[in-house]
Amino acid sequence: MRAAFFHATLCGGSMSGRKILVTSALPYANGAIHIGHLVEYIQTDVWVRFQKLRGENCRYFCADDTHGAAITISAKKKGVSEEEFIAEVREQHLADFSDFGIQFDNYGSTNSPETRHYCEEFWKALRKADLVVEREIEQLYDPTEGRFLADRFIKGTCPKCGKPDQYGDSCECGAVYAPTDLINPRSALSGATLELRKSRHLFVEIEKARDFLVHWIDASDALQPEVANYLKGQFLSNDLFPWDISRPAPYFGFEIPDFPGNYWYVWYDAPIGYVGSCAQWCKEHGQTAEDWWLDKNTDIHHFIGKDITYFHTLFWPTTLNAAGFNLPKKVHIHGFLTVDGEKMSKSKGTFILARSYLNHLDPSYLRYFFSSKTTGRVDDLDLNLEELELKVNADLVGVVVNLASRTAKFAHETGLSAEYPDDGGLFQEAASKSEEIAAAYEVCDYGKAIRTILECGYRANQYVEKMAPWTIKKELTKLQKDANASPEAIEATRRRLQDAATVGLNLFRQIAIYLAPILPDLAQKTEALLNTKINDWNDVQTPLVGAPVSEYVHMMARVSRDGINAMIEESKDTLPSENNEQGTTDGQGAGQWNDSAQPLLDEPLADTITIDDFMKVDLRVGRIIEAEQVKEARKLLRLKLSLGGTETRQVFAGIKAAYPEPEKLIGRLVVFVANLQPRQMKFGLSEGMIVAAGPGGPDVFVTSPDEGAVPGMRLH
Ligand code: 2FM
Ligand code: ZN
Repeated sequence: MRAAFFHATLCGGSMSGRKILVTSALPYANGAIHIGHLVEYIQTDVWVRFQKLRGENCRYFCADDTHGAAITISAKKKGVSEEEFIAEVREQHLADFSDFGIQFDNYGSTNSPETRHYCEEFWKALRKADLVVEREIEQLYDPTEGRFLADRFIKGTCPKCGKPDQYGDSCECGAVYAPTDLINPRSALSGATLELRKSRHLFVEIEKARDFLVHWIDASDALQPEVANYLKGQFLSNDLFPWDISRPAPYFGFEIPDFPGNYWYVWYDAPIGYVGSCAQWCKEHGQTAEDWWLDKNTDIHHFIGKDITYFHTLFWPTTLNAAGFNLPKKVHIHGFLTVDGEKMSKSKGTFILARSYLNHLDPSYLRYFFSSKTTGRVDDLDLNLEELELKVNADLVGVVVNLASRTAKFAHETGLSAEYPDDGGLFQEAASKSEEIAAAYEVCDYGKAIRTILECGYRANQYVEKMAPWTIKKELTKLQKDANASPEAIEATRRRLQDAATVGLNLFRQIAIYLAPILPDLAQKTEALLNTKINDWNDVQTPLVGAPVSEYVHMMARVSRDGINAMIEESKDTLPSENNEQGTTDGQGAGQWNDSAQPLLDEPLADTITIDDFMKVDLRVGRIIEAEQVKEARKLLRLKLSLGGTETRQVFAGIKAAYPEPEKLIGRLVVFVANLQPRQMKFGLSEGMIVAAGPGGPDVFVTSPDEGAVPGMRLH
């Protein structure tokens, strides 16, 4: 059914024995996939699909990143084992990826025998290369939880600017420090005051790999130039710090065979998960991971976000090199996702989970939009939902799908013409763009590829406009009804109609092939419409003739504003609160919480009031900036609240028993009754009240607004 009119260009193919191994960063198994993650998975999936369409022997491996303290904490919160927890998250991840058309060849887990095996192999190599040393260090220990704490589970006052409630490694003011530098460090898990304790750790002395790293960065072309400069300026200009690679028990991970009671740090085994996932696939396909990682014909391509550059461009190559494994041919580093130019925000509903997106919009839209913005550089990518709507409606619905919808019905009865008609050179012109488009895909400049493809689309639409098959159809119907019309005239008109539709559909199919890496769903629908598989990138060179044409089924709907709005609304509703952000609370019904009826029994609901009654109370967000015990009072704390700017209020609150360490309240946002008549007390003026729940005594719980609220905001 194909006429080989045009020369096929030669593309890579797997004849050479070349293999391409591709990975995306392994998502943590402690949270749901969101649209920020999808920037990377879509970029990688497009690249892999492109390589496969070009006939390359390309495989895409990924896995869940399952180890570390965060997993234990999330599992504990949920009352399940770590294994149960990661198994559940895995199901969600797989469903999200699959529904976005992300097609891995294998999706493994770092908690697998294969990953453990390679952790041990790499470990022996690091030891043999004399890169591992043992040292005693002092770290903050949470006596309540019985564990040393990672920086992000430690909070305290910034040693530089004095801001309370900052994480153990950095402050909002930009200061970076060790958790032991924090003033009044405490556990973000238990609230306990932390103790400084000694323990023995293993370190990888990465400084010893300096010469290798400098050479690799300079000579390999594996890194984007801005990344190479960043590494040289930020890290290689000084001695490289030894990398603390072990964690004492308890820790969810793999125990280090020659250092019992200690576990490899999650970042040691995470990239080894790439090899573990590859090994799993190899087992199923009669191969070994070594066939890929030791074979010089294999090109390793990692796709990662800029935040994890350090791990993939310094530690990982050092580990691979020690083991004699292939080094990355390319580390493709992308920027962050912003929405409307800002960080994704929970309060604005722009922190959108993959599932919330899928509940309302077609995944092809996001695949197309992200691709149109992908340049192969490290720049951040901005998602503007109005722009997405305009772009998809104009380009995909208006230009691409329109070609099929305006021509297919005219060839449904006849199928495509038996010979490809004269189209004035349009098919050939689009075919000649093949290598230009391929080159753009190759360097991840999908934006450029799309621009070139759309130009073909504009020309094709001009052709359809000019030929106006709908007018030919009318002519034909008229002739068929005309008793005097000659059979030759009818046949000629029928042929003209079939030819016009054949050209339109072939030009459409070329575009669908070019876009297939980005829009696999559209490619599949095209296959169904024209009853012909798309097997290969070179299919753009050969027009399809004689194929039956199925009845046209709608290929893509316009983006609906309502869908976008509903997705934003859902994102506002379903987000995990700050406390359980590490966990996955999606899909949990209220019944699952099993809340007691006792509080309502103790204090039944009050009589109804009008909204006007309610509005008399001026509730504001306030920040506690001072908190101390009132020595002479049994129940009282003295608090000073900021309402923003220079507005402050003093409050005496009866919460002493519940907050025996009042300084821990400093920095917290609370709800404040701002227009309560001030009350002169023995200890000073009380200028309002903070809102708290609970029966009293130690059971009083100060309430806080959600993230995003700022002092001075009114509660409605
Ligand atoms: O940053 C992250 O989300 C990590 N889970 C990425 C790991 S990538 C690789 F090293 F496994
Ligand atoms: Zn600070």
